[in-house]
Amino acid sequence: MTEKTQHTVIIGGSSGIGLATARKLLGPGMKVTITGRNEEKLKGAWKSLGGAAEKAAFDASKPEEVSRFFGDLGPFDHLVLAASGGKGLGPFQTLDLADIANGVDEKVRPQLSCLQAALPTLSKSGSVTFISAVSAQVAMPGVAGIGAINGMLLTVVPILAVELKPLRVNVVAPGVIDTPWWDFLPDAKRQAIFAEYAGKTPVGRVGRAEDVAGAIAFLVSNGFVTGQVLTCDGGLRFAA
Ligand SMILES: NC(=O)c1ccc[n+]([C@@H]2O[C@H](COP(=O)([O-])OP(=O)(O)OC[C@H]3O[C@@H](n4cnc5c(N)ncnc54)[C@H](OP(=O)(O)O)[C@@H]3O)[C@@H](O)[C@H]2O)c1
Repeated sequence: MTEKTQHTVIIGGSSGIGLATARKLLGPGMKVTITGRNEEKLKGAWKSLGGAAEKAAFDASKPEEVSRFFGDLGPFDHLVLAASGGKGLGPFQTLDLADIANGVDEKVRPQLSCLQAALPTLSKSGSVTFISAVSAQVAMPGVAGIGAINGMLLTVVPILAVELKPLRVNVVAPGVIDTPWWDFLPDAKRQAIFAEYAGKTPVGRVGRAEDVAGAIAFLVSNGFVTGQVLTCDGGLRFAA
């Protein structure tokens, strides 16, 4: 008997980790929908997937857009939450504490709001994968703000794994990954930071979006893993 085709929705699938995850999951037996705010960027991502995915442009930080998207979507099987914020990096002494609230608004609330809106149509035998960050797991100077933001997602995952059972709920905690997330830095500065992190990381390099996509694909496909944090950081957590 042939298995039913499954459907994965990737919120923040138009670049970086989300797009690499779409590329990894797409294939016989898996339909994928990618989302993002910027329509042009989304279209470019969709083209890079050979037009094989579905796409939908909306802002996951706007509850009415989130409800409209999930209201129109119909039943689906897996939800990957890759929307990002970029706030909260820097030494604590000079950290603008408003950036913590901004980071919650840009990353934590959109991820939680998508899951809430998805619940009526998300298969109970499927999965949810949040994306947090290793900044919530390391004692590394300069990450108190961004670590606090990402720590919220690490906290909710085991709770939701029990509360929403049998739906599986997991989270990936990436280390430093070479994606457009870092585009706020000028090229030379970004390369210098990557070289510094590569030197600190046991595997000797920063991550690629495909590294994290592989971790997400494992959590999507393994039906006996729930409530887990999968750190995908080349060992940075233990060396920083
Ligand atoms: N790269 C790293 O070093 C690293 C490390 C740890 C954790 N992470 C986390 O990994 C996740 C993916 O980041 P990435 O590195 O792949 O960054 P990225 O390349 O910038 O991708 C972010 C994706 O999210 C979308 N997005 C952002 N805000 C959104 C919103 N409000 N509504 C809908 N879509 C939204 C972006 O598209 P639009 O801009 O068009 O909306 C894009 O598709 C993020 O949660 C990030 O915090 C990244």
